[in-house]
Amino acid sequence: MDKINSFSEYQEQYKKSVDNPDAFWSEQASTFLWKKKWDRVLDWEFKTPSVNWFINGKLNITENCLDRHLDTKADKTAIIWEPNNPDEKHKEITYKELHEKVCRFSNVLKANGAKKGDRICLYMPMVPELAIATLACARIGAIHSVVFAGFSAKALSDRINDADCNILVTSDGLYRGKKQMCLKDIVDDALQTCPTINSCIVLQRTGQQITMKDGRDSWWHEEDELVNSICDAEIMDSEDPLFVLYTSGSTGKPKGVQHHCGGYMVYAEYSFRNVFQYNEDDVYWCTADIGWITGHTYIVYGPLLAGSTTIMFEGVPTYPDAGRFWEVCEKFKVNLFYTAPTAIRALQVYGTEFIDKYDLSSLKTLGSVGEPINEEAWDWYYKNIGKENCWIVDTWWQTETGGIMISPLAHITKMKPTFAALPLPGIQPCLVDPDGKEILGNDVQGNLCIKYPWPSMIRTTYGDHERCKQVYFSTYPGMYFTGDGCRRDEDGFYRITGRVDDVINVSGHRMGTAEVENGINEHSRVVESAVVGFPHEIKGQGIYAYVILEDINAASDNLRKEILSTITKEIGPIAKPDKIQFVSGLPKTRSGKIMRRILRKVAEGDTSSLGDTSTLLDPSIVAEIIEGKV
Ligand code: WTA
Repeated sequence: MDKINSFSEYQEQYKKSVDNPDAFWSEQASTFLWKKKWDRVLDWEFKTPSVNWFINGKLNITENCLDRHLDTKADKTAIIWEPNNPDEKHKEITYKELHEKVCRFSNVLKANGAKKGDRICLYMPMVPELAIATLACARIGAIHSVVFAGFSAKALSDRINDADCNILVTSDGLYRGKKQMCLKDIVDDALQTCPTINSCIVLQRTGQQITMKDGRDSWWHEEDELVNSICDAEIMDSEDPLFVLYTSGSTGKPKGVQHHCGGYMVYAEYSFRNVFQYNEDDVYWCTADIGWITGHTYIVYGPLLAGSTTIMFEGVPTYPDAGRFWEVCEKFKVNLFYTAPTAIRALQVYGTEFIDKYDLSSLKTLGSVGEPINEEAWDWYYKNIGKENCWIVDTWWQTETGGIMISPLAHITKMKPTFAALPLPGIQPCLVDPDGKEILGNDVQGNLCIKYPWPSMIRTTYGDHERCKQVYFSTYPGMYFTGDGCRRDEDGFYRITGRVDDVINVSGHRMGTAEVENGINEHSRVVESAVVGFPHEIKGQGIYAYVILEDINAASDNLRKEILSTITKEIGPIAKPDKIQFVSGLPKTRSGKIMRRILRKVAEGDTSSLGDTSTLLDPSIVAEIIEGKV
């Protein structure tokens, strides 16, 4: 399939996608392998909401990722896997081998009773088997729910139970930098409260001692020996679910964002090819983890659909030293590189010594995702990594959008540091004022909404459609609300300014303040807490927690440590507050609502303009919090 080749072609395609979306998407979708073509392109309304793409089309996404490449690309490398430890040998898996491995594991899942529509949880390190298991679920029509392997037992069991998963795939342990962790111990703990799990399939990665439960647990390699490598792909409807992926919102527990087969497939490949301007022999590396949406769409599905070579990296940017990313770029002659601003900022601190050692001349396009990229990090990336020769694509999107929504197209769209630039064809963003009125024209600012469906949009939140409606489609009726604030400058370029709700973005990880508060409140001495984000040099945002204790005299550093370990147990280390301030009360309005605006200002260290505090039940609490005495 062709790419957009010039800015005028982008404008032409964009216009076509708005004037006649059905014709536009029909053309895009027709490049895939369908078992049966769709009857209609799109039916939709945003009230319920009900969105159906490629109606009555039949397909299997893995036939498009694998089988259809076998004629021409059987021996091409599909996945390069780089282990955590640079002394361990990397692996290269061809399309033919990947196809075979996926078919085998599909048969393992079937032998464990899996069938179409079942939910299967994957809790694994960044090893090829994670991609294989993901694709195997899709091949048999089971819905995968990948849970990032940094989440705690509690967070894992919550996600398993919310989706009633019946199979869990995991590993004995994992390596991350200098650390080795026992995943299976966490799993054993989690499964004590997961009655729906019948089988747990365990990959051997670290070889460490673990316990296997009779009748429930089995080894991946032993199961693999019992099956063959022939597995026809299940025929799926376009609107059959492909996966759920849990993500945090303003309120309550994380919700399972659900994506469906047909539309997700079309958009994953379309956006990958155009944003990165992927060429046939490009080597592509996205440093994300498959536990997040970026890994789903731009490590597994998008690149494999496009028939590219995609790198999976098990480690971290600073192990064994801060040159690791660049060493890997040199080693595999990476052309397209995609990472998060938090990684860039973390590496910036080490200077250029670790970059200069490596030949980065293969790089052409540098991507950024997950949070706003500050100008300093943008410049550093552009100069030191791209040597002023590469295009930077600052890609804005969300778990719910399934794919990149607003981004420059590499080597095509003019770059403006910190701007995500322009919507992809088919994407109709708009800015709205607090009353929900669309703000027209340029040089304006508002809340970012999308007013027309796109193929990879969220269809529902698992098991709770009402929640999907409330969170995304009720704030501004008739539109999808992103939760982000945004500026559109005089050229019509979009700059995302950050979340306008109670979601914070810590090192590119999305977290609900309510979720962190609930975790902190689990500590027996905590009565109540309020969490806000504050600007953090490396992480983008840090977590600031105000905590009320049963007995304020118990406040101590030791108690702080205990609270950190409670939150690690409840959610995982990524949710640990950077700062805990013990307070005797919180600034609440007479109706009991916490005035977070004030807490944010104090956390930022800016107490000069707290605004109107006259509606507070007890205004004196503000002074106490500012003094931070207690
Ligand atoms: C933020 C990650 C600014 C935004 C793919 C969004 C960004 C949230 C950018 C979604 C960007 C993502 N510039 N902000 N280029 N990309 N965000 O669901 O606040 O983990 O709403 O998806 O990250 O995070 P999520």
